[in-house]
Amino acid sequence: MQEQKTYYITTPIYYPSGHMHIGHTYTTVAADVVKRFKRLTGYRTFFLTGTDEHGQKIERRAAEAGMSPKAFVDGIVRDTQDVWRLMGIEYDDFIRTTDPRHERAVQKIFKKLYDQGDIYKGAYEGQYCAQCEAFWTPSQLKEGNLCPDCGRGTELVREESYFFRMSRYQDWLIRYIEEHSDFIQPASRANEMLQNFLRPGLQDLSVSRTSFRWGVPVDFDPEHVIYVWIDALSNYITALGYLSEDDSLMRTFWPADVHLVGKEIVRFHTIYWPIMLHALGLPLPRQVFAHGWLLFNNDKMSKSKGNVVYPRPVVARYGADALRYYLMREMPFGADGNYTNEAMMKRINSDLANDLGNLLSRTVAMIEKYFGGTVRAPGTYLDEDRALIALAEALPEKVEEGMDALQFSQALGEIWKVIGACNRYIDETQPWILGRTEEGRERLATVLYVLTECLRFVTVLISPVMPGTQQKIFAQLGVSDEGIKTWESLAAFGRTPAGQRVWKGEAVFPRIDISVDLPKLEAENELELNAGKAAPAPSGEEKKEQVSEKVIGIEDFQKIRLRVARVLGCEKVEKSDKLLRFRLSLGDEERTVLSGIAEHYRPEALVGRQLVLLSNLAPRNIRGVKSEGMLLCAGGEDGSALQLLTVDGETADGADIS
Ligand code: ME8
Repeated sequence: MQEQKTYYITTPIYYPSGHMHIGHTYTTVAADVVKRFKRLTGYRTFFLTGTDEHGQKIERRAAEAGMSPKAFVDGIVRDTQDVWRLMGIEYDDFIRTTDPRHERAVQKIFKKLYDQGDIYKGAYEGQYCAQCEAFWTPSQLKEGNLCPDCGRGTELVREESYFFRMSRYQDWLIRYIEEHSDFIQPASRANEMLQNFLRPGLQDLSVSRTSFRWGVPVDFDPEHVIYVWIDALSNYITALGYLSEDDSLMRTFWPADVHLVGKEIVRFHTIYWPIMLHALGLPLPRQVFAHGWLLFNNDKMSKSKGNVVYPRPVVARYGADALRYYLMREMPFGADGNYTNEAMMKRINSDLANDLGNLLSRTVAMIEKYFGGTVRAPGTYLDEDRALIALAEALPEKVEEGMDALQFSQALGEIWKVIGACNRYIDETQPWILGRTEEGRERLATVLYVLTECLRFVTVLISPVMPGTQQKIFAQLGVSDEGIKTWESLAAFGRTPAGQRVWKGEAVFPRIDISVDLPKLEAENELELNAGKAAPAPSGEEKKEQVSEKVIGIEDFQKIRLRVARVLGCEKVEKSDKLLRFRLSLGDEERTVLSGIAEHYRPEALVGRQLVLLSNLAPRNIRGVKSEGMLLCAGGEDGSALQLLTVDGETADGADIS
């Protein structure tokens, strides 16, 4: 029997110094998509992610939160795993650098490198800033040997340290990179590494610290903890059981097929890591792929800057698949791109609600209308059918090409070309006219068969990106046979059996009213941001009971200003079914606020009422009107009545609510 092909993919292990944002989500979703695609195409896959928990930064953040480092990271790790679950991430292992299995293996790696002479003990001498706990080179220092970060004076300090003889491997690595053009992708990154770091010459790397304790101790010299990058990079092999009693995963999956990383950590993955592996006598990963950054207002999103978007509010509103699709579709993997909620909503509306959603609902609705919900066998194919069938049949190979090159956007673009062609095919074949005559219906049976079968192709191929949607579409198409949901079943057009029973369901992606949703989503993100800045939630034992809401402290609530607002005037916004424009009095101040409740209230009935206003929400421009706040409502979900919040009895206009 032929052995099953294997595929091993990793994400960076993230610092649990704050909650994971859309940037981390981006890499993790990409890895999940590749894993699912490779599994679909017959590989035995292993997908590793995790957290990088040691180091001074985490030690400090925990101290600021008044917690031990372990308790601090435990909270964030729980939250991280919860977000990945929400995002539909199916990792095979989640490694934490505080796992005993990892710590033991890192100590062994360090010892092995020491024993064979790659690591030696020396001393580090340089200008040291005690405030920042950092050494600075002469070129980094400001005039007068001042610290470039805090501007304070530095002192000459000599610290014992272990060093890795990087210089020993420099020539080997240059040759390796030159001879393996696929190793670093995109290729421009390889040139950068060669020119900026390797050719100018590598310095030996200091790989231990004595200035803090939160790390893996060097077991034969416990004054020292192992440098975080040596500790962190090792995760890719310690998770497979390297140097442990059971290294069967190591034998099966190493070398990794690809390490996905953000472009800022390419250097660690393409210089230090290959040298470590080579020194250990291990083969190198086949590829390190550096993707670009998600930017926020053209600036890199980062936990420390606080300019971040979180996945939870988006998922709560539109589901994980919509966000997964947007992240994979919007920008080519490798390039930077701005993230905006507005662009995301527009894409959901155009690609998912319109193109895909309409194709499905039109097809199913017509099968119900004309054929009592049963797919009929096709008759003879005409040229227009054959053209569409040829597109569908060519699709799997194109998608595979895109996926193998990690060009998700390109792969999805190919799928959407077929979706577009299907929608045009409906317009051209005009089923509503065919349905009028007996003869036309014969032809219509073929048209609807071709559409159903094309939708099957599309649905199998989007499944790695949108696993939940796959299930929903197959439920509506009535596909229950697992055998026609596979990659292999796309080898030939026509596997949908005649007699398959379709079921029209709810819209898979309801259209978003952007002007209504955008301010809400941004307010929800703001709440998440503030929760993310707070100390992590207590552990399960500490929590009395599991509640589904996010627990916040009173300090979070105090950031919100709720006030009583009297309606001075209210009218419908022109050309909008949903928006009402309110003129509100807060006693000494008037405000204009737009609210998407026109379907629930007659404007004139609201004049004079006292309502509850979230008054310190950042103003937003909606349809050219500046809206300064948000009126609170209850209900409105699943068709229930929407009720404005009000106060129990006459209160001063503008009164604070607490
Ligand atoms: O660097 N856009 O962890 P980290 C795109 N612990 N991707 C982003 C992003 C953004 N704005 N922000 C973060 C570390 N990422 C180390 C890694 S690996 C042995 C150790 C993603 O928490 C991207 O993958 O700072 C980036 O490389 C990673 O998160 C950095 O995560």
